[in-house]
Amino acid sequence: MRKKVIAGNWKMNKLPNEAISFIEELENYVKDSENEVVICAPYTDLFYALNMAQGTNIKIGAQNMNWEEKGAYTGEVSGEMLKSIGVEYVIIGHSERRAYYNETDETVNKKLKKALSLELKPIVCVGESLEQRESGDAKTIVTTQTKLALEGLTNKEVEDTIIAYEPIWAIGTGKTATKEDANETIKWIREEVAKNYGEEVANKVIIQYGGSVKSSNAKELFEMSDIDGGLVGGASLVAEEFAKIVNYNK
Ligand code: 13P
Repeated sequence: MRKKVIAGNWKMNKLPNEAISFIEELENYVKDSENEVVICAPYTDLFYALNMAQGTNIKIGAQNMNWEEKGAYTGEVSGEMLKSIGVEYVIIGHSERRAYYNETDETVNKKLKKALSLELKPIVCVGESLEQRESGDAKTIVTTQTKLALEGLTNKEVEDTIIAYEPIWAIGTGKTATKEDANETIKWIREEVAKNYGEEVANKVIIQYGGSVKSSNAKELFEMSDIDGGLVGGASLVAEEFAKIVNYNK
């Protein structure tokens, strides 16, 4: 049985004082959840969020990292830096980073390898645009992104990787993929993993859905056979709403 992982992606939102009060509030709501609860915060909030999350079941993640250990890379943050302060998760290859900051399948693969080597838990994002979905290319796009992201990983490393299927047209738009479409696409991703790493590995890989997840649709999505939780943007900014998503099965 795969664990459900419900991760909030705050994107470029929340100052440290807001992060602190959010974690303080969330803690009570989710303390009895058997689901994994993760908050992926901006770099400047990480230290505060980690302090507040100590002794709770809330895990803290970053939203990006560099694949190099250190050096002349102005403005970048390394996996070692994240690890050193106690960060456990890191989002890699979010579609916003692919679209606005030139993330490629190659850099996604490099970052993924680096994160795994440091025992940071990566959440790798894949997903098609509306145009690609409408032209019938969604399967090719997501399976190719999955293959290239995971290239060169060991079976164990693939098992330790979380994949988030986030159709670009569903992000921040209020349009959610139907539970059937989301489940079918996630099955394609799982089949791609099976093709390259075997059924056993594929059955263990956690694959989330992301794109306008909210408390009103979380249950129907997360109860589908292949959807192992969600990566939540807008609805993760309000503690009570995010808690309802975490507690979808209560
Ligand atoms: P929304 O939940 O705001 O659509 O964002 C999804 C997302 O991009 C999470 O990474």
